[in-house]
Amino acid sequence: MLLGKPSDISSSEITPRDDYFRYLSRRRFLKGMAATGAAALGADRLAQFAVPQAVHAETRLQTVKSPLTTTGEQLTSYYDITHYNNFYEFGVDKSDPAKNAGGLPTRPWTVKVEGKVAKPLTFDIDDLLKLRPLEDRVYRHRCVEAWSMVIPWVGYSLSEFIKQCNPLPSAKYVQFLSYFNPKVEKWSYEDATIYWPYSEGLRMDEAMNPLTLLTFGLYGETLPNQDGAPVRIVLPWKYGFKSAKSIVKVRFLSKQPRTTWNDQAPNEYGFYANVNPNVDHPRWSQKTERRIGQPFYAQRRTTLMFNGYSDQVAYLYKGMDLRRDF
Ligand code: MTE
Repeated sequence: MLLGKPSDISSSEITPRDDYFRYLSRRRFLKGMAATGAAALGADRLAQFAVPQAVHAETRLQTVKSPLTTTGEQLTSYYDITHYNNFYEFGVDKSDPAKNAGGLPTRPWTVKVEGKVAKPLTFDIDDLLKLRPLEDRVYRHRCVEAWSMVIPWVGYSLSEFIKQCNPLPSAKYVQFLSYFNPKVEKWSYEDATIYWPYSEGLRMDEAMNPLTLLTFGLYGETLPNQDGAPVRIVLPWKYGFKSAKSIVKVRFLSKQPRTTWNDQAPNEYGFYANVNPNVDHPRWSQKTERRIGQPFYAQRRTTLMFNGYSDQVAYLYKGMDLRRDF
């Protein structure tokens, strides 16, 4: 059992940006020392290695503890969470999103709701931030590429948002569409086969599961652009590609929507994509994973069914044949 009682961790206790900044300044400082020689450095030379606050634009969020947080895991560092990313609109390398996503315009930002709903709606991001108390939720994050992290997200259950959307009984699926503007995301054509905008989808009962998180932040602060600012979804029992970033549209549908990676390679990336150590990806094993940021001897871990969240989600797939669920 990997979910605990209301956690003892709140964002204020999670060592976030201050440690990160100390780390960053120390690195820049040491780099500068190495480059110029310590003795040659005067006070004004030292100042150039200080971290300008502007490079860190995230703002602190008011959060509450959550009964749905994962306990007993060591958190991945802020640096790794924000510098080892998949966000193909900003480039295909893991380090690209941190370098290239600065121009993503996160204000003003709206989320449009359409399809099988009583009436189409538009939510402003600042209203969404106030819709429900923002919870600190630590989740394991398992990418289909067999690496993993442990991330202290901030958000509330997507079900709270869905209730505000008044979906019709005919709504059986929910689709999420990411922001797409090739002028801002000029790297999006590096992988020319992707059909933009990035699209993901869930069955309605998956979307209503309390673990499905509408996510606005991490480490107690607003999401950095490279992690999907200003709003994304997070599904801790599914491979990371299901967690669409920078969402601008939510569609309620009667039929299963097309989704980006499933479209790309249906034999490698399924629609459900539940974490499953018993079903290998056609090109690699899913039995183990590499925990980012851990020393090499502690990196390899056994992958858990539903990423360790079986108690919360296994009921959703009763009677389903999971042998081809990539
Ligand atoms: N959302 C968009 N819009 N574009 C993407 O390329 N990559 C997905 C998912 N959401 C992706 C996306 C993949 S493959 C993963 S593993 C996670 O985002 C990575 O999230 P992280 O960078 O915050 O770890």
